[in-house]
Amino acid sequence: MTDPAPDRLASRHRTRLADRLEATGLLHSAAWRAAVLAVPREIFVPAFFRRGDGPQGTVWAPVQPETQGSDTWLEEVYTDETLVTQLDGGVHPGDVDGPVGGEPTSSSTLPSLVVRMLEDLDPKDGARVLEIGTGTGYSTALMCHRLGGDHVTSIEYDPASAARARTAITTAGYSPRLIQSDGLTGDDDGAPYDHLIATCSVRTIPPAWLRQVKPGGTILTTISGWLHGSGLARLTVGEDGTAFGTFLPGTVSFMIARPHAAPDLGDFSSLLRQPAEERPAHHGQEVFQEWVPLFLTQLAAPKAQRISTRADGGPWLVHTIDVGSGSFATLVLSDDSGGGFRVRQGGPHRLWDDVEAAIDAWKAAGSPPQTAFTLTVTPTEQRVRLDTPEGPSWTLPT
Ligand SMILES: C[S@@+](CC[C@H](N)C(=O)[O-])C[C@H]1O[C@@H](n2cnc3c(N)ncnc32)[C@H](O)[C@@H]1O
Repeated sequence: MTDPAPDRLASRHRTRLADRLEATGLLHSAAWRAAVLAVPREIFVPAFFRRGDGPQGTVWAPVQPETQGSDTWLEEVYTDETLVTQLDGGVHPGDVDGPVGGEPTSSSTLPSLVVRMLEDLDPKDGARVLEIGTGTGYSTALMCHRLGGDHVTSIEYDPASAARARTAITTAGYSPRLIQSDGLTGDDDGAPYDHLIATCSVRTIPPAWLRQVKPGGTILTTISGWLHGSGLARLTVGEDGTAFGTFLPGTVSFMIARPHAAPDLGDFSSLLRQPAEERPAHHGQEVFQEWVPLFLTQLAAPKAQRISTRADGGPWLVHTIDVGSGSFATLVLSDDSGGGFRVRQGGPHRLWDDVEAAIDAWKAAGSPPQTAFTLTVTPTEQRVRLDTPEGPSWTLPT
């Protein structure tokens, strides 16, 4: 017989969370409110990592009821925060005694984003949904509550996360179809689906998704890339492998689907030693700090990665490098104390010329928000367009 008090406490936390999400306007339907009230997030995050600052950068401290006390742990479980549950593809909170470094590779996404995407997806009663990126299984469980487990399939790439999610989802009393594989290949066996929702991001829409969603159905996914630009796109699937849609409001980002992750840059020092042209830059490092300019930078240089270096106490140099083509653009702070940048470009492509052309075209159109961009997918090409008369466009990388 379990003590009912923790359950009552968790239930109060759920009500408070639902109220907070409603107050933000991101949760607005009775059906999704009921799901938030019903699904115990604590089952999906029995332990997680809390982000902190260490002398060498970000560190992740394990949080578990056994070490933190169950009230503190439960309180954090019901914050509107992403709770990281795995680092570097294999380190879990139970594996470490104290703060560690690492890159998050699985998590329970912040509830306001999960709920907002479910509201954006808006599946009707009886709809069948394919989710890519089960993670902890929390979002899967919300969909099971809303649609019934037999209407939900979820795919997780990582075997350890998939196994933990299966245990949690079963413990919570739901029975969706769970698959451990690469979600970029989708699920031919369960197709066609009415909707596909991805809680990892992709550089380009996988062809399998277009085959597996019914004409008239929707794909909701973030488009991201190696420069960490991101945008949430909602596409309506057409006939014959086509889809079209717009980017939705908000600064939405997810960890990138593992097969789409950036390759290791390796030793790029000889690439940077190529002959280069130098000129004043019209746009400098600020493009990496603002949401839409960063997205545009990535569209203009879709195979590039950014890295900063510093030699012998000198200034920080910001390099945009496309190892595939052997091209680079290096931003250097001008020494005229005006705060401007110079850019050195080498290799076959002038990467920064393309970036500046994209930013200039966007500014000429009045610097519209991301909702002014559309994505058109055909069997031969995926194109993001700034949806203005004569709007410029960029193809997503293959
Ligand atoms: C942000 S988490 C998912 C959050 C989850 N929906 C939740 O609410 O707990 C992203 C997940 O996507 C998974 N993932 C990455 N690449 C994938 C792929 N190609 N196919 C399926 N899952 C993938 C990661 O392993 C990670 O668990």
